[in-house]
Amino acid sequence: MKATAKAHTNIALIKYWGKRNEELILPTNSSLSITLDGFYTTTSVAFDEDLSEDIFVLNNEVITGEAYRRVSRFLHLIRETAGKQNLYARVNSVNEVPTAAGFASSASGFAALAAAGTRALGLDLTHEDLSRITRQGSGSACRSIYGGFVEWNMGKREDGTDSQAIQIQTENHWDVRVAAVELNSKMKKISSRAGMKRTVETSAFYSGWLDSIPNDLKEMKAGIATKDFEKVGAVAEANCLKMHATTLGATPPFTYWHDSTMRVMQTVQEMRKKGIPAYFTIDAGPNVKVLYLPENEEQVEKILKDIPDVQNVTLSKIGPGVTYL
Ligand code: DP6
Repeated sequence: MKATAKAHTNIALIKYWGKRNEELILPTNSSLSITLDGFYTTTSVAFDEDLSEDIFVLNNEVITGEAYRRVSRFLHLIRETAGKQNLYARVNSVNEVPTAAGFASSASGFAALAAAGTRALGLDLTHEDLSRITRQGSGSACRSIYGGFVEWNMGKREDGTDSQAIQIQTENHWDVRVAAVELNSKMKKISSRAGMKRTVETSAFYSGWLDSIPNDLKEMKAGIATKDFEKVGAVAEANCLKMHATTLGATPPFTYWHDSTMRVMQTVQEMRKKGIPAYFTIDAGPNVKVLYLPENEEQVEKILKDIPDVQNVTLSKIGPGVTYL
């Protein structure tokens, strides 16, 4: 009744931004991401008949409060699926993801937890089944089941049975790199969950966001298939800007950007004017991820590190899906 799994985080090139069902975590739009090699979570789950409640240890610290409840609720879903409702677990997670703003450690975290938890209870699931369960821990996590280029199909059904991710290309298809630019180690103030909820409910620009998704997805998939870096980068950058624009149209309005976020964005655009193909994308926090090609790695890293307020630049390749240890 014990299993250990490792999952990598992912960065969306077409963002998931909004839910149509908060309980089941069903999105209002399909999204597309790449899985990253450099950031991952390793999780062991051990079910034990002697336990009277779940225990969650993250980076050697016993976790309580909302983070604990989220994990325990998710374990309950796994227990129900396996028909073993009265069995509690000890969860031990080690995060190689900076939990600071903008890097979704919840993606690798819930993907590793789902993989280890289901295997510990003897469930033999396809990747699509596993992705669907993982989705209910954290939406973006359902994409981290796979390596490479991954699409989360929003699905149509209201019970969520057709809302899961699929792999569109493996990690060996194309060597695109991502520089994670860390600006601020402070925790973000508005979680992605709360931010997208406020946006769906109040943003004047939300319908414009949704209308733009089908074409962005189509262009992105064509760019990936033909390895057209300019196309992939331009569509990703524009999609990110549209997502962030919806937050400015919310009530009350908000933004995840700091002044240093904009400095990095401008620097990336200046790089392009100098002939270095590089494009940015940003999640629900101030940090920026920069897409580039291997031949430009040295230049890109140097330029990013020289920007004032940049604390750290971590380079990553495209990574694999869930593995069992
Ligand atoms: C901006 O997956 O963290 O990173 O489903 O509520 O857990 P929940 O939200 P989460 O949202 C991620 C939002 C995003 C875009 C993306 O990863 O697609």
